[in-house]
Amino acid sequence: MGFIGFSFFCVYFLSLTIVLSTLNFFSVHPSAGYHDKPSLSAWPSHIVPLGQHMELQCDSPSDYYTFTLYKELGNPIPPIQGSPYQKKFVFGPVTTEHAGTYRCYGLNYHYAIKISANSDPVKIIISGIYKKPFLLALPTPLVNLGEKVTLECRSEIMFDTFILTSHKTGTIKGSFKLSAEHCHGGSQANFSIGPVTSDDAGTYTCYGSFNHSPYEWSESSDPIDIKITGKSMSPLGRREERNTLIFQLKIFYKRHGT
Ligand SMILES: *[C@@H]1O[C@H](CO)[C@@H](O)[C@H](O)[C@H]1NC(C)=O
Repeated sequence: MGFIGFSFFCVYFLSLTIVLSTLNFFSVHPSAGYHDKPSLSAWPSHIVPLGQHMELQCDSPSDYYTFTLYKELGNPIPPIQGSPYQKKFVFGPVTTEHAGTYRCYGLNYHYAIKISANSDPVKIIISGIYKKPFLLALPTPLVNLGEKVTLECRSEIMFDTFILTSHKTGTIKGSFKLSAEHCHGGSQANFSIGPVTSDDAGTYTCYGSFNHSPYEWSESSDPIDIKITGKSMSPLGRREERNTLIFQLKIFYKRHGT
């Protein structure tokens, strides 16, 4: 009796598999190339404070993909909330186990067979491991166009490296790394910026880290707002401004012209 039940289940399962594979055969787009590379992004940022949540999202122009995520080096990926095959991967509260280089690739829905190239890597940094360093703008955070400013990052902890990040409208625009110099029972680095352009205006913070764990950073320093002052404008800037004006006038005449 038990045997009959078992073989009935097997036949049922087998036919279900055949139906699924037939469906699958027809649903795979013939032009789906293995070189179709998905993009991986981290939200709200690739620098995640210890204990917070992060989201990694894999996207591809071919929207029938489901994805899997993997880590290149170090510890394996800690448990993911929800299914391991999806688009969005939510992690948290994060620990140092989450630090590392991630990539994703597209999968066939039914068989979990890899059908895309690997995405470019995203480095996830966990911050807040050590006490925050101190950031200072020398001589002042108000900088005249074309002049230089030094951002000094220092700590009483003997860090190996300091990282300066620049932010504009809440997102990280750039990051710069320098080896720390050890002095006065602490460590420091001077980031020299300039001659500045209006592009250098924004919020800056710095972090300290050690070479043995480059993906684990200190807490972020208090931010400094760099403001660019002065009226002088480069010839390029003038030309851009004039072109914008001409463009706006064209739009105006298109809308209001007779
Ligand atoms: C950074 O600049 C400050 C001020 O000019 C100076 O006192 C300090 O020695 C510099 N530190 C390094 C590591 O260059």
